[in-house]
Amino acid sequence: MLIDTTAINQQRNHFDDSADIWVFGYGSLIWKADFAYLERRSAYITGWERRFWQGSHDHRGTLSAPGRVVTLTPVEGAICHGMAYRITPDTLAPLDHREKNGYLREITPMHFADGSQAQGLVYMATEDNPAFLGPAPLDAMALQIASAVGPSGPNRDYLTNLASALRDLQVDDAHIFALEQQLHRL
Ligand code: SIN
Repeated sequence: MLIDTTAINQQRNHFDDSADIWVFGYGSLIWKADFAYLERRSAYITGWERRFWQGSHDHRGTLSAPGRVVTLTPVEGAICHGMAYRITPDTLAPLDHREKNGYLREITPMHFADGSQAQGLVYMATEDNPAFLGPAPLDAMALQIASAVGPSGPNRDYLTNLASALRDLQVDDAHIFALEQQLHRL
């Protein structure tokens, strides 16, 4: 189901008084940086795993044929690698719009390769949001991704672009690469 978290996110203005804010991206935000940023650095967060469990009715699918995009699920001891962007607060508005189908701004510590850390935001779609699809067998998820298309393009491009961005970052993500292999088998 399509929802709109924009208004809720605007209330979650944890860092709005800061001159700059770190935002951690783990999905399309890794490979599609169509927003202004001051700096970007590869980074990771702990305690979360990336999963194709969120429905996309507005970008990579439609209301009647939703696609699948990634969100995070809590897993003790897990590490999720991605890309951190240092932005100015005015860039939160376009990000809220882009992530409006179920994602909420959450605060997270993020870790950089040089051992430094920063507190920042991550857009997370939890299992209680109406667009959440949850787990499904790998072949069913791959079939759905192979056929869904939305205003931002084919769902398959989302998966293959994410997989190739993770390879560029030298990140091994078993869930993403297994799904990509399954997609190529179809
Ligand atoms: C993210 O990339 O961090 C959030 C999910 C998405 O937009 O694909």
